[in-house]
Amino acid sequence: MAEPVRVGVVGLGTVGSGVVRLLVESADHITRHAGRPIVVERAVCRDVGKDRGIKLAADRISTDIRTVSQDPSISVAALLVGGLEPARSMMVELLENGKDVVTANKALLAEHGPELFELARKKGRSIAFEAAVAGGIPIVAAIGECLAANRIERIRGILNGTSNFILSKMEEDGADYADVLKLAQAKGYAEADPAMDVDGTDATQKLAILAHLAFGVWVPWAEIPRTGIEGIDQGLMTYASELGYRIRLVARASRSDGELAMKVAPALVKIGTPLAETRGAYNAVSLVGDAVGRMFFHGLGAGQMPTASAVVADIIDTVVGRAAITFRTTGVLDAESPAARIDTADLHERHFLRVTASDRPGVLSRITGILGEHRISIASVIQHEPSEAAGGAVPLVIMTHACGANAMKKAVAHIDASDVVSAPSVCLSVLEE
Ligand code: NAP
Ligand code: HSE
Repeated sequence: MAEPVRVGVVGLGTVGSGVVRLLVESADHITRHAGRPIVVERAVCRDVGKDRGIKLAADRISTDIRTVSQDPSISVAALLVGGLEPARSMMVELLENGKDVVTANKALLAEHGPELFELARKKGRSIAFEAAVAGGIPIVAAIGECLAANRIERIRGILNGTSNFILSKMEEDGADYADVLKLAQAKGYAEADPAMDVDGTDATQKLAILAHLAFGVWVPWAEIPRTGIEGIDQGLMTYASELGYRIRLVARASRSDGELAMKVAPALVKIGTPLAETRGAYNAVSLVGDAVGRMFFHGLGAGQMPTASAVVADIIDTVVGRAAITFRTTGVLDAESPAARIDTADLHERHFLRVTASDRPGVLSRITGILGEHRISIASVIQHEPSEAAGGAVPLVIMTHACGANAMKKAVAHIDASDVVSAPSVCLSVLEE
């Protein structure tokens, strides 16, 4: 048997503990795939006294990154600390000291990917990041390797497990938003700061990473238009369901005329389509490649062991040398790469609009009139009998025919500025497939 490969695990939280568990409990299986044993030589965390339920001797765990970066017996490090700092400095320290790095930290890659990739290449090292996008789904390998012959035309995904868990629990059990968020945190799905899950930041950072792989451009993630799920309530879900849709947080990127249209926002997805059937902490990615056509990927996008599955696969890839080969060409596309311009104006689609209007004569015609002024055509309208609890306000739900996103935005601003509206309207894209 060949000499073992020694790895360092930096971060022993939900994901890091899962990685140690998998490396220990599936050691024989992993050895067969890697051609040699992979052992955890060192681990790093903040609180060395914490019981993490893992089989790792106490003297192997420290708070000092240098126990990994400066140990010459360690060739691969799994960086499983979240956020930007000290994660960025840790990654630099590991690369500078000649370690190949595997990470699940999408915030770090979305923010500092270009400079970290450049440093890794300069040092002749690799960064593998399958776990950074869509947890256990091998979407990074799929786009970066298996579909390399394709020009990717479009990506649509449910990329945040926490948001999807919240939306599907609210929809299926009528659960309260705040209660489900706490449950998602307890299950280890949420970020250390769960605002990043529910405000769309996490999904947007993952979309930026996928765009790098698929289109060869590093799009600054903060420039991608994003809306989270904080404004989604039971009322919206009930209307969506009445119309034959579910609400999902959808990340989208598409290429047309050499430009990228990108957006992360809750959208109505048609019941029966794969995105609508993606529930709980599951993620999904649908994409269109020019040769392969339409593809769909589905699997757990958050949680300890699905994420550990992706991290350990990357460790094996690094050990056998596959990661180094892939990393050399990751995101390096040719002159066909679209300009890193993000433009949502060309998203021509149907919209769902909920207007909270005053219950008085002429309101419906005033609102439909404003939509008409903006040349937006109405497909259907729902207005239920007002309840006493609504205090004179009545929800009016309108489905439009396809129209430009900008025209819709202007029309909604116009409606909300009118004297017939008593609360801000909610406008969501409608995705039919
Ligand atoms: P977590 O449970 O909060 O764990 C973070 C770990 O980092 C903890 O062990 C913590 O130590 C350690 N740490 C933090 N600051 C440190 C420092 N200054 N020095 C040494 N150690 C430090 O986070 P997680 O859920 O495992 O997520 C880790 C990464 O994976 C994040 O980037 C996250 O976005 C990503 N990710 C998570 C999931 C998921 O389902 N959870 C899925 C995919 C990707 P202590 O334990 O001692 O505090
Ligand atoms: N907080 C993330 C999510 C973890 O809920 O999807 C997986 O990246």
